[in-house]
Amino acid sequence: MIRFDEKFRDELLSKLNIVDVIGSYCSLQRRGGTYWACCPLPGHSERTPSFAVNEAGQFYKCFGCGRGGNVITFIMEMESVDYHDAMVLLCERAHMPLPEDDGQEKSAFETKKKFTDKKRLTALMRDAALFYVSNLKSDQAKKHRDYLQKRGLTKKEIVGFGLGASTDYNSLVNHLKEKGYSYEEMVQSGAVQYSKEKGNYFDAVANRLIFPIIDAFGNVIAFGGRVIEKTDFAKYKNTGDTPIFNKRKTLYNLNGLKKEKQAVGKLNYVVMVEGYMDTIALHKAGFRSVVASMGTSLTVEQARLLKRYTDVVLICYDGDSAGQNATVRGLEILLNNGLEVRVVSLPDGLDPDELISQRGKEEYEKCLNNALPLVDFKLKLVRDGSNVNTVSGKRRYIEESLRIISKCENLTLQEELLKKLRDESGLTYDSLKRDLDRFKGEDGASVTALSSSTDYGGSFSGSNTEIAERFVLCAYVFSEPYAKKLPDECLFSDKFREELMQFVTAKIMLNKPIEQEKLQDFAGEDNLSELMKVLAALSSVEESAREEYFNDCLLLLKRNAALRELASLKERFNNEQNREQRMQIAKRISELTVVLNKLK
Ligand code: UTP
Ligand code: MN
Repeated sequence: MIRFDEKFRDELLSKLNIVDVIGSYCSLQRRGGTYWACCPLPGHSERTPSFAVNEAGQFYKCFGCGRGGNVITFIMEMESVDYHDAMVLLCERAHMPLPEDDGQEKSAFETKKKFTDKKRLTALMRDAALFYVSNLKSDQAKKHRDYLQKRGLTKKEIVGFGLGASTDYNSLVNHLKEKGYSYEEMVQSGAVQYSKEKGNYFDAVANRLIFPIIDAFGNVIAFGGRVIEKTDFAKYKNTGDTPIFNKRKTLYNLNGLKKEKQAVGKLNYVVMVEGYMDTIALHKAGFRSVVASMGTSLTVEQARLLKRYTDVVLICYDGDSAGQNATVRGLEILLNNGLEVRVVSLPDGLDPDELISQRGKEEYEKCLNNALPLVDFKLKLVRDGSNVNTVSGKRRYIEESLRIISKCENLTLQEELLKKLRDESGLTYDSLKRDLDRFKGEDGASVTALSSSTDYGGSFSGSNTEIAERFVLCAYVFSEPYAKKLPDECLFSDKFREELMQFVTAKIMLNKPIEQEKLQDFAGEDNLSELMKVLAALSSVEESAREEYFNDCLLLLKRNAALRELASLKERFNNEQNREQRMQIAKRISELTVVLNKLK
């Protein structure tokens, strides 16, 4: 029997996110800091969601059947297992080795091994990958081999990255059938698709050059396939999301990155490129700390993954694509997860693969060395895009620059940047600094400031958004009578304040008192001073004016949130290929615009 002590349990819990775990059993809808679903627990069926999952507190609660608890009790309920077996399951999930067995009898469960599902899929993907690899040597795959040669790849890269070939629609399906996999499993793995029209099963990346996507544990979890001849099909096709593959949580060559880290320790930097070919070309040229985002915008999960390997990410996207606003905004995600971000610019619209093959790795290395910190890069974009020969152009340039500088959290850096702007613009430092303070904390050009004509009798420092967010939070913390309805969306611009709101929401939902001491624990040393500002917010406004002030603040917060959502929707719209999805997004954008107009 395995014994799990408290330390082990805490470590396991720290590796799991209840939202992911429960999200794999039912579909969770996020509203504010809380996720909702129709209760998935055995014995309770319902049509409207009353099952809530709180991410900050890592607990769930069903307001219908009353059951609640943490991720362990959830698994116990769902899988009908005891504490011990729930721990075993969760360890498997978190890829955490089990503690040593004490030699006593094993539970029936351990011997039965219940993880067959995912194991089957992983085995299937491995068999598929091996099939493609051996198929690359077949007569039919001559064009694939020629293509690889044309792209300058040698046996070393082909083997190292496990490249393979699909040469028709059926062979893979037949091979997997022979290996004993069911059609259901094949389709579930993403490697095989079913055609309703033709009523047959076919290789999802048929006729393509195959790039296996491998996770940090060496499991093949998906395939990318490239066409090798001119066709109307998309250049790349990837197998879709499955129980073992989530595009948003994966980076291409993560396995390679892990090997590199095992060899040399925490990496000085990781280069992030867009494509499979770029990754392989860099690797071949000796830049082995490289991953690809696979052409999509970055996610928080990917940022967190990277943070385990390095503190510095060099973004090296194709030619001018890093210059696109959507990309730049995506990079903020990396910053927000504690990574230092530098942007590598490549000349003449080349991608990393082309640059290396056409101009050599020394030239590429120069580009890496000239990478600009994200904020400098943004300033450069503004400079390049402005016509400073006209008065209005110059004014816009200064304004845009100040807006960027104002968001920079490092004050020393801010001062340096301001001095640079002074030298470029010919304006005085003091006047720039005064203008800068106006921008601080603003979330966008069009955010209207809190009405300055209303005098609430308070005086305080900080930006309008900051002040408003602190006040709203404080009202909830002290259960002010007008702060009754909990916000059902993510309203805060600042990570800590958003988390604090979730923490407070959890307490209110569970009817628990909000103790000052607990709040301090929650904030930790890093956020203590912010917490103090939050707790002091009520007293900065006269009592009789608080309710009205609260409502004004909430309005500002809602507007900010809508603007943020709008920005991210527009980015998604630009990146989305699927027409149906694009229409959905466009619909949401127009709805949101209506909401925004109402909030004015
Ligand atoms: P690119 O179009 O930049 O391709 O897409 P590439 O990497 O330079 O490829 P080569 O050099 O022409 O072979 C970058 C990445 O975006 C994803 C792929 O992951 C690709 O590597 N992508 C691109 C797709 O998923 N589908 C597409 O149709 C195109
Ligand atoms: Mn390319």
